[in-house]
Amino acid sequence: MKAVVFRGIGDIRLENVPEPKLKNDNDAIVRLTASAICGTDLHMVRGTFPGMKPGTILGHEGVGVVEATGRNVRNFREGDRVVIGSTIACGACSYCRAGYFSQCNEANPLGPQSGTAFFGGPSPTGSFDGLQAEYARIPYANVGMIKLPEEVTDEQAILVSDIFPTGYFGAELAEIKPGNSVCIFGCGPVGQFAIISAKLMNAGRIFAVDCIESRLEMARANGAECINFNEEDPTVALKELTNGIGPDRVIDCVGVDAVAAKSGPAKSTVKKALFKVEEKMVAPKTNRKDGNWSPGNAPSQVLQWMVESVAKAGTLSIIGVYPPTAYVFPIGAAMNRNLTIKMGNCNHRAYIPRLLEMVRAGVVNPAEVLTQAGPLLGAIEAYQHFDKRQPGWMKVMLEPEHTAKAA
Ligand SMILES: NC(=O)c1ccc[n+]([C@@H]2O[C@H](COP(=O)([O-])OP(=O)(O)OC[C@H]3O[C@@H](n4cnc5c(N)ncnc54)[C@H](O)[C@@H]3O)[C@@H](O)[C@H]2O)c1
Ligand SMILES: [Zn+2]
Ligand SMILES: [Zn+2]
Repeated sequence: MKAVVFRGIGDIRLENVPEPKLKNDNDAIVRLTASAICGTDLHMVRGTFPGMKPGTILGHEGVGVVEATGRNVRNFREGDRVVIGSTIACGACSYCRAGYFSQCNEANPLGPQSGTAFFGGPSPTGSFDGLQAEYARIPYANVGMIKLPEEVTDEQAILVSDIFPTGYFGAELAEIKPGNSVCIFGCGPVGQFAIISAKLMNAGRIFAVDCIESRLEMARANGAECINFNEEDPTVALKELTNGIGPDRVIDCVGVDAVAAKSGPAKSTVKKALFKVEEKMVAPKTNRKDGNWSPGNAPSQVLQWMVESVAKAGTLSIIGVYPPTAYVFPIGAAMNRNLTIKMGNCNHRAYIPRLLEMVRAGVVNPAEVLTQAGPLLGAIEAYQHFDKRQPGWMKVMLEPEHTAKAA
């Protein structure tokens, strides 16, 4: 079968690989009809989330049809259409039972103190083969797969695999109460769903910060008041727009590949020397090629802006991904302003059923965030466009099925 394979930093390839087989009793084999490329995949290819084992199949977002099940997968049959949650969880340990599926004690073969188990991730996360492939083995399929209602299309369901739940999780961590003002940093796909989720939680006002006009335009269409950080200093603009107070809640939807302002008043405030040190820590190895795979040049920029701009006693929610090698956080300023900080990897399984119901009922149409769909054969090129954040390349759906038909 065809799959997108990680060969090294800055080196991903579409390869022919063996089809997966059932290994454990709670496994399923799924024939993928949709997969997608995520900002998290970019960290790994750019080298800002190190530790990827060469040969690992990438991708952690998937929709497909069940082909085979192990004897302990009792809630699905061959032919069922399912969405697959990005993180892998046993559903039985005390963490899973409390809803902390991303901190499952059992799913990661490296043991309970290792990283969140997810598809297509680096070795500390368990080196599970990912979902940018024609077929995938789904461990703990009885927990991680959710049956799709007929009315929900692949275009909608693929966004419920990871980024809608993550945006919703981020909004929940931010402790949004009706009427609160909320600022979302980063208007990529995850940021768009954080905006949509803040709206669902009745936020009073929603601000959105990015530097890419097409992404800010989508945020505006979703109801956000937009700030381009290459034109305005977001910390100043946010105070100005809130009578000097700042938003009650702020959400980081950027992560380690944050970039610094390259024009406008925020440019003069950039902590260049600090960012240089950080870049070395988070991305000791890089492999820039033809304008692709450049790590962000300001890893802690968003954390600094959030701590500076949020209202006193406000809440920071961090869902942007940082590697364990990231050490810089403005703890002093945060402590002295009585801030609450919440963060983490999404507990997908806790959110997918309820978000799917909202999609089925027509409350949210997640497909509005999707800008491209194409066969798996075009995956590498799609990665390159998405990595460069080219205008109009917001979220790419890959269709492995069409690859199969073409082959
Ligand atoms: N916690 C989780 O479970 C989870 C799940 C999925 C994705 N993520 C993470 O969420 C983040 C966003 O994912 P995505 O797919 O939307 O990625 P993306 O790369 O498409 O989007 C990031 C956006 O941030 C913007 N940005 C860069 N520097 C900025 C700055 N200084 N201030 C404001 N905006 C800035 C970029 O222009 C871009 O639009 C990534 O870090 C990804 O790894 C986390
Ligand atoms: Zn993702
Ligand atoms: Zn568990």
